[in-house]
Amino acid sequence: MDQDEGKQVRTRVLIPEERIRARIVELGAQIRSDYSDRPIYLIGILKGAVVFLSDLARAIPGPVRIDFMGISSYGRGKTSSGEVKVTKDLDVLLEGADVIVVEDIVDTGVTLTYLAHVLQQRRPRSIQIAALLDKPSRRMRPVQVKYVGFTIPDEFVVGFGLDYAEDFRNLRDVCVVEE
Ligand code: IMP
Ligand code: MG
Repeated sequence: MDQDEGKQVRTRVLIPEERIRARIVELGAQIRSDYSDRPIYLIGILKGAVVFLSDLARAIPGPVRIDFMGISSYGRGKTSSGEVKVTKDLDVLLEGADVIVVEDIVDTGVTLTYLAHVLQQRRPRSIQIAALLDKPSRRMRPVQVKYVGFTIPDEFVVGFGLDYAEDFRNLRDVCVVEE
């Protein structure tokens, strides 16, 4: 079967895997120095953040814990449904914890604004955001993203965990979709 049920979808590399890998190593070192030797709770947002989180977790020296949250905000394609809901909650309590929410990309900011609100109510010691990609030109809600891998223009990207209708998450590079 075709990647998009008959529609031709082509991709071109925007950020090659070597650059991504090098940047994640930098982010890991920066994060550890910001938190001294305290345990860090990485909260990955399923499913797009899985690839970034697995590399980021290993780039942070010292104590790191991981958990996942499921959120649905987008439909099957490229357009937002405008709705956000929790589809899988955490297994751990966050009270007193240093939390970093790990996202694949911050686009409109709707997802993270909602999530920050939900997680604040659990009284963490601190809460920050790490995103592999940031598309600031699309922002509808202000979001402070402390750890950004790459700032990109307003193009729809896939790979390194990001999907287009569930395809392309396994691409090793971040790629632009061209139809
Ligand atoms: P936001 O709520 O608009 O910030 O949406 C964030 C979510 O939208 C991300 O976690 C992705 O799942 C999805 N998304 C936004 N832009 C892209 C893109 O260019 N490619 C793939 N998914 C995207
Ligand atoms: Mg996502």
